[in-house]
Amino acid sequence: MIEYRNLRVALLGAGSVGAQVVSLLLKHGDELAQRSGAGLELVGVAVRDIDAPRSAEIPKHLLTTDAEGLIVGADIVIELIGGLEPARSYILQALNSGADVITANKALLATHGPELFDAAEQVGAQLYYEAAVAAAIPIIRPLRDSLAGDRIRRIMGIVNGTTNFILDRMDTAGESLETALKTATELGYAEADPTADIEGYDAAQKAAILASLAFHTTVPIGKVYREGITSVTLEQVDAARKAGYVVKLLAIAERLVDKETGTEGVSARVYPALVPRTHPLATVHAAKNAVFIEAEAAGDLMFYGAGAGGIETASAVLGDLVSAARRHVIGGPGLAESTDANLPILPISSVTTRYQISLSVVDQPGVLAAVAMLFSTHGVSIETVEQTVAQPDPLTGEMAGMPGATLVIGTHEASESDLSATVLALGESSVVSSVTSVLRVEGSE
Ligand code: NDP
Ligand code: HSE
Repeated sequence: MIEYRNLRVALLGAGSVGAQVVSLLLKHGDELAQRSGAGLELVGVAVRDIDAPRSAEIPKHLLTTDAEGLIVGADIVIELIGGLEPARSYILQALNSGADVITANKALLATHGPELFDAAEQVGAQLYYEAAVAAAIPIIRPLRDSLAGDRIRRIMGIVNGTTNFILDRMDTAGESLETALKTATELGYAEADPTADIEGYDAAQKAAILASLAFHTTVPIGKVYREGITSVTLEQVDAARKAGYVVKLLAIAERLVDKETGTEGVSARVYPALVPRTHPLATVHAAKNAVFIEAEAAGDLMFYGAGAGGIETASAVLGDLVSAARRHVIGGPGLAESTDANLPILPISSVTTRYQISLSVVDQPGVLAAVAMLFSTHGVSIETVEQTVAQPDPLTGEMAGMPGATLVIGTHEASESDLSATVLALGESSVVSSVTSVLRVEGSE
């Protein structure tokens, strides 16, 4: 029997993820010790309420409400409390005492990442966070290690399970956003306050983390452009399907050059977009996540799997635990976070994309020409136009209201500012009854 050096592991939080970490660690501890070359002794689990029900059995003697006391003397601290405080203070306490820290806390990393990474670097400790983006999907380590020799051009991720579930149900079952959100909440995908999911805050935090890693630049959460899915309608989802697209909430991190100023920088943004049904991201259904990477040398890569769930997320946490233990066995300082590129963070106005705009228009001579003129005046080039003329009621043979038509206009790449000016002008035009939908198109050739 091999005698391993013992590492003291302190766990903070025993909720959906923490309880599963305890269960897997107690079940597979010997195997993990073999893989790490160190014994992993769970010395305690800090919670708020010792008597609260747990999703997995946790020996009573391990539970404590004294998180600070538990951190003292630990070699590795796993933070699975969530939120900003007291998680931030506990992590700082752990790092300052020289312990390695593992966290799944995307909100904390997106808000206080630089402070935490600095604290780790000061003492030569390491902060691991594989579970913070897309839970079970290995994406942090591939970006930090496997792709460290390449240059990333762009990342497009479906990184929020709740919104993917909702948009998928709207697309495949014709459910309303409200009904699908209710189901997502019942299934445990949504955050306690689902605003974080449906308004895109959760995806924006993950976009900030991915962009920072991919472009070796600190991307503050305040610089991530964000739109959620609350304004996406069933009509838009139906129209997208008929046109060969699906609506997905995308987190995009991209290295680009602002066409006006020539500045090269990083864009990080989250919004619902039309994705061609032929794109690999269109095949990501239900609450699954996927991260699509375009790298200069490696080409296109896609990472797919469970982006939420207690046991799934615990898998990533335990992977970090094995890495941390191996590092302790080998010795030496932790790897500092690479932010050397220090690129400027570009505003949404630097981005150019294709758009699809739907309009209700009056059906009379000259309307199409007038609409086309508005696009051309604002420097937006039209790629496709599809017109559907309103039909009379099949029973009465009568038209409801003025004779009208729907125009669906696809554009070539256009800047955000030119597009906004065009949409404003369309809204004010006498031939346009209403602008019914404006969606960006991503992932097309
Ligand atoms: P839960 O809300 O289910 O669990 C939180 C745990 O933290 C509970 O056990 C709670 O104790 C404990 N806790 C809260 N406040 C304190 C405190 N002040 N001191 C000690 N313990 C405290 O969260 P999750 O397990 O769902 O999430 C944990 C982390 O993992 C979060 O950062 C989350 O964003 C991240 N994550 C979660 C995923 C998921 O699918 N759930 C996916 C990916 C990441 P008690 O039980 O006594 O109330
Ligand atoms: N609420 C999040 C989601 C959980 O729906 O993806 C994982 O971060």
